Amino acid sequence: MANTIKAGEQERSGLPRHIAIILDGNGRWAKKRGLPRTAGHAVGAETFRKIATYCKNIGVEYLTVYAFSTENWKRPPEEVKTIMKLLKNYLQEAIDTMEKDKIKMKVLGDVDELSDELKEMVAHTNEISQRYEGFQANICLNYGGRAEIVKAAERYAADLAAGKVQPGLDEAGFASYLYSAGIPDPDLLIRPGGEKRLSNFLLWQCAYSEFYYTDVLWPDFSTAELDKAIAEFQSRDRRYGKVKNP
Ligand code: IPE
Ligand code: IPE
Ligand code: MG
Repeated sequence: MANTIKAGEQERSGLPRHIAIILDGNGRWAKKRGLPRTAGHAVGAETFRKIATYCKNIGVEYLTVYAFSTENWKRPPEEVKTIMKLLKNYLQEAIDTMEKDKIKMKVLGDVDELSDELKEMVAHTNEISQRYEGFQANICLNYGGRAEIVKAAERYAADLAAGKVQPGLDEAGFASYLYSAGIPDPDLLIRPGGEKRLSNFLLWQCAYSEFYYTDVLWPDFSTAELDKAIAEFQSRDRRYGKVKNP
């Protein structure tokens, strides 16, 4: 994986065009070291920076990470506060470097419920992103897969009632109402941290994604581990319901 593969060559190289990752295991990583859970989130944020850069360098087009779910508000207030602070730092850093690196970034989730400061930063990153083509990082923040589907249905119903669209909806039409509109479905979904569940992540989009689970906790996740996940992805036979050799 050391070679840089240009965007567009993925099909030939077998590289996943879109990788999605459930960033899990930060709390356990910290606990194992006798540290507060929040220390795990700080190291996890660094791991995200490292993996995002690597994905961009090897020619992955989209990286989508699950950073904060609609259910994560149920955690202790101190922990939620720390996670929001780290996300704020990350967005600020992204705003400062996106133009230089020509990176697109999109926040997927219910942004309306975030603080005014975060909302402004999200709007700013979206605005910068419109200027570039190329690698795109998607951060799922206050994201829930079911909520996303319900919101999409509501938005479609409103457009229908307003006469903006004609009755009749197909899968592509519905997908255009999701947060992920315009983003291809993930080819590879990685969950570090040992759990084997989706936890309400990209329920619609992962219909045909290849899943890769590892016990490695997210703060320990390395580029070598990503290479392993990609290698396994490349050995999979994606049939999409068809028969390979009829
Ligand atoms: C993932 O790590 C980060 C978030 C969900 C925000 P966790 O905080 O879930 O870590 P564990 O699963 O408790 O170890
Ligand atoms: C999933 O991890 C959500 C994020 C990584 C943001 P959780 O740690 O919240 O999931 P559960 O509770 O183990 O299902
Ligand atoms: Mg967890």
